[in-house]
Amino acid sequence: MTNATFSHDDVRLDLPLVPASQGNNGYDIAKLLGATGDTTLDVGFANTASCCSAITFIDGDAGILRYRGYPIEQLAEQTTFLEVAYLVLYGELPTQTQLDEFSASIAKYHVIDERMREMFRTMPRKSHPMPVLSASINALSTFAVSRYGEDAFDLDRATHILLGSVPTLAAYGYKNSVGQPFLYADETLSYIENFLRMSFGLPTGPYPFDDDITRALDVLLILHADHEQNCSTSTVRMVGSSGANIYVSIAAGVSALSGPLHGGANQAVLEMLKGIRDEGGDVHSYINKVKDRKDTTKLMGFGHRIYKNYDPRAAIVKKHADSILRTRSGTQDELLDLALQLEDAALSDPYFQERKLYPNVDFYTGLIYQAMGFPQNMFTVLFALGRLPGWIAHWREQFTDPATKINRPRQVYVGEVERPFVPIDQRG
Ligand code: ACO
Repeated sequence: MTNATFSHDDVRLDLPLVPASQGNNGYDIAKLLGATGDTTLDVGFANTASCCSAITFIDGDAGILRYRGYPIEQLAEQTTFLEVAYLVLYGELPTQTQLDEFSASIAKYHVIDERMREMFRTMPRKSHPMPVLSASINALSTFAVSRYGEDAFDLDRATHILLGSVPTLAAYGYKNSVGQPFLYADETLSYIENFLRMSFGLPTGPYPFDDDITRALDVLLILHADHEQNCSTSTVRMVGSSGANIYVSIAAGVSALSGPLHGGANQAVLEMLKGIRDEGGDVHSYINKVKDRKDTTKLMGFGHRIYKNYDPRAAIVKKHADSILRTRSGTQDELLDLALQLEDAALSDPYFQERKLYPNVDFYTGLIYQAMGFPQNMFTVLFALGRLPGWIAHWREQFTDPATKINRPRQVYVGEVERPFVPIDQRG
């Protein structure tokens, strides 16, 4: 491993190699602008590392995902979401005592300020729950401060407030959209059970848990817990780099996640599957539409900036989709069959093979969320719940890294050069 040398005209510049513990090393180009007067251009940051991070490793060609060194397959099989959240946040798997303390501390924050509950009633019923979630996390920053003062920004306190309160905010956004009463958390229930009950329960009776569904949601949240410098995480880091607080940074991450090219894809996949079903179920004509260069239709839930192989999370979700949906007959079953046909058709088609397009995590998640009873527009909220530990861990990692600077990219300006001002009566 050696440094690289940049050479252009009479400039020669040493580009120090920043070694990775695994995967792509980085060449430090920080001195390039000063030495040459020119910058680098990398639209969409496809080839640019924005930081050094020790949280998550992905090898997109081999289909590998590890949190803090542990393979996602083992974590999904053997842990719970809060165990994984602890791992992502603090770097090590918790002991039983650490996990108990962590869970108990987070559970204290499931009950939010009463005025925050009322705030949900001011939101239109038909609001998309993602902006509602983002707005409520912004509001949480003020309610947390009014309750805990500067302690609200203590990193561990803020972490526990966010992990405890966000499921409640997500559930209340849903309750408001269906016009049902808000439920308080029940301290005898687990993190996942509380979220399910606050979403679907009623004050008039007990909520009937289905252990398969509870475990499936636990696993889905584990699979989403972190994914290194994706669009929403980079947004959280970008906002946090200005010194903005952790709550508002995470609210910004929720907004970034809402787009259909990112977390919004799980909703888009289900809409796509229903569309194909309603038009007669012909997956091949849909594939042809996707391949038609004049058409902008995409195969939603396929393709990934990093994975050029099967997304390991998609493989795990597919197994769960099969076991959950096959035991519950109905439309989900029909849509699962369509999804399987679509996947087969795409994977055997040269268009997708040449471009290394495989199912990503979103391809099968919507089907499971639907089987759990969530409406389509809540799917991305579930993604956000899962991604929360990752966002917090990245904000904390950046905050405690002495190398952190405000994130401020350059541009290559391609607009007008200087020209004289034209008064309004002389324009036209
Ligand atoms: N359907 C059809 N063609 C596709 C798809 C797709 N889903 N994804 C990529 N392609 C094609 C592109 O048109 C392009 O073709 P070309 O080389 O002939 O121009 C080629 O594959 C490369 O694609 P890019 O758009 O350059 O890939 P990029 O890394 O920029 O985009 C992205 C990745 C946004 C995920 C893209 O694959 C996509 O839009 N997928 C559908 C949306 C989706 O599922 N998003 C969820 C991503 S996972 C997540 O956020 C959790």
